[in-house]
Amino acid sequence: MTLPKAEVVRAARRASSGMADRDTPFIFDEWYVAAFSDDVGRALLPRKLLGKNVLLYRTAGGEVVALDDRCAHRSYPLSDGTLEGDTVVCGYHGFRYDAKGDCIEVPAMAKCPRSIGVKRYALVERGPLLWVWMGNAEAADPALIPDTSYHTSPEWACSKEYLHLPGNYVSLHENLLDLTHLSYIHAKSFGSPEYARAPYTTELGYGRFTVRREVIPTVLPPVWADPMGLTGVTTAARIAVSAFESPGLHRVTTSFYDSAVPEGERVVGTICTSHIPTPETRTSTHYHIVHGRNFALDDTVATQVMHDRLFTAFREDVDALTKVEVVLEETAPEDFYEISVPTDGPSVAMRRYLLQRADAEAQARAES
Ligand code: FES
Ligand SMILES: [Fe+2]
Repeated sequence: MTLPKAEVVRAARRASSGMADRDTPFIFDEWYVAAFSDDVGRALLPRKLLGKNVLLYRTAGGEVVALDDRCAHRSYPLSDGTLEGDTVVCGYHGFRYDAKGDCIEVPAMAKCPRSIGVKRYALVERGPLLWVWMGNAEAADPALIPDTSYHTSPEWACSKEYLHLPGNYVSLHENLLDLTHLSYIHAKSFGSPEYARAPYTTELGYGRFTVRREVIPTVLPPVWADPMGLTGVTTAARIAVSAFESPGLHRVTTSFYDSAVPEGERVVGTICTSHIPTPETRTSTHYHIVHGRNFALDDTVATQVMHDRLFTAFREDVDALTKVEVVLEETAPEDFYEISVPTDGPSVAMRRYLLQRADAEAQARAES
């Protein structure tokens, strides 16, 4: 039995203490996806985001509103009230709020006091996504929303789905940045045995972390080989770039072609998947996914087949991270350590960044 020596465990714990984990406070000054656009209509939709209860609804004019889901009177959830026109009427004593979050009617008073209201959060609708800013309202700059314009481009065929992850969002970002797990977690879906050992390069900037992995030659799994016309081809290339773009977005872009075909004559197909984690609680995450491809655009059968196969694989990640969360919950602090290996470099850098951001925000809050 080979257990790590005490000094190795101490070093591992020291390293972990510099990285974000499930106990790290959320980073509020960021854009996160609150919901898919078509989730929100003329009904009151409650959603917990970054540990806060938020109410989402759409006005008659089509604007999406995000309010604190807590009546200013006696804390009744506004989402349990009713939507009347563009106003929300609390289900307890009937206080009425407009779309700005201002209370405009208190039924038991002839005149509504001006000073009652609930917080309204900045929210921007971009294609299929609703981006919300839960932090300092003055810093909510829509220019900071990551570019996902391919979601609505006619040059891409996209599909989307929501998964609920009973695990922390940091684990999901780590999972997405270290694709060596493809050969194991996804052995039956889109992994291939040589993937974990394939050469890779990294770019580790402050707030942006990428891993580029080239697997050449390889045999593509059917999910891409079939629509690309590369079924059975043993000289295929699979080049994946996995990029942490913000605490609320991770993008994986993968290109495929037949490496036996000379450059310039190759047909290159690309898929691009937006993995969109939004913390719900310390131990749960809203996981929105938009997947696109720039080939076989009119092939609706391919869209459905790829969607089904890919989301089967994404559920494998959710299953794995759910298991990890359970183990973390059950592990006593004195027994806990995790040892990183060189391929963890990008995720270690990313987790250090998340911790720095969370610490800086916590300090700013304390000072204000
Ligand atoms: S709790 Fe909402 S009106 Fe009283
Ligand atoms: Fe995965």
